[in-house]
Amino acid sequence: MKRFLGLVIIAFVAVTAACRDAGQTASESEKKDRPEKIRTIGMSQCNLGEPWRVQMNQDIRTEADLHPEIRVIFKDAQNDSLRQRSHIEEFVSAGVDAIIVSPKEAAPLTPPIAAAFERGIPVIVLDRRVLGDRYTCFIGADNKAIGRAAGEWIVERLGGKGRVVELKGLMTSTPGQDRHTGFREGIRGSEIEIVFEADMKWLEPDARKEMESALARFDRIDLVYAHNDPGARGAYLAARAAIREKNMIFVGIDALPYEGQAYVRQGILEASLEYPTGGKEAVVAVLDILKGRSVEKEIVLPSRVFTIKNIDAGGEWIKSEGDALEHDR
Ligand code: FRU
Repeated sequence: MKRFLGLVIIAFVAVTAACRDAGQTASESEKKDRPEKIRTIGMSQCNLGEPWRVQMNQDIRTEADLHPEIRVIFKDAQNDSLRQRSHIEEFVSAGVDAIIVSPKEAAPLTPPIAAAFERGIPVIVLDRRVLGDRYTCFIGADNKAIGRAAGEWIVERLGGKGRVVELKGLMTSTPGQDRHTGFREGIRGSEIEIVFEADMKWLEPDARKEMESALARFDRIDLVYAHNDPGARGAYLAARAAIREKNMIFVGIDALPYEGQAYVRQGILEASLEYPTGGKEAVVAVLDILKGRSVEKEIVLPSRVFTIKNIDAGGEWIKSEGDALEHDR
């Protein structure tokens, strides 16, 4: 019996070793086509309900596809900060090699991002900021400069005075705060009057509702400044329903070719200011970090203003901090 058991054990060990060898051979040949080690990047997107964020993910995918040594896992928090927080925590427990995050709101997303960073995971914060500096790199356009450029453009367009509605992006997110502050700086000293302002949370349906209230309260509105193009379109739709869209001007931000730029061509918007997604730049930064190169703590992306006069020429660049906007006169 003992001898029989011994034989069984020897046979089992031999078969297992053979299987292991066969497995090794297969993976050896696969290795030739595959990079040494595939690194995993977790991408936490706050919402995919808006075309701009779909474009951001697409920009990330397009760049990542050029680099077989990385793969990206995408998560969509569906506009819910708590869900986004768990996504970041899941990435940390899964042991990803880097995280790209476009946070919905600054305060609730700061702790999980800081925790990932403290664990030694490189974290790229994209487009909306968090509080403090516990992350590896922030990439985004200068929202204050964009808001200021919008304000200066509007002052010029309205000849220094007029009644304006401001439809703000989510004010717990930094682009909303900065596009507001920058805009107020841009119109300072003019006779522009902000007759109505409301937080439309970046969403077209909310913008439409807020604009309905503005239209009900004010017989004359000269211009609507919305912090993004979906917001500007929502306002336009409300005005059109009231047959008042031709009495006012609409200005938005994002300028995607098939969204804001298309609205400019269609005459819905008079101006749209570009807000680049930074998706490609985020992947480039991650690759640098994974190769042991250092990256800047802050990467500021350039932005353009598009009007019907300059759109065929590719828009006009917005000057950086403190400079006046150059636009068609
Ligand atoms: C999409 C969006 C863009 C805007 C950006 C600001 O969610 O609202 O329209 O420019 O976020 O973070």
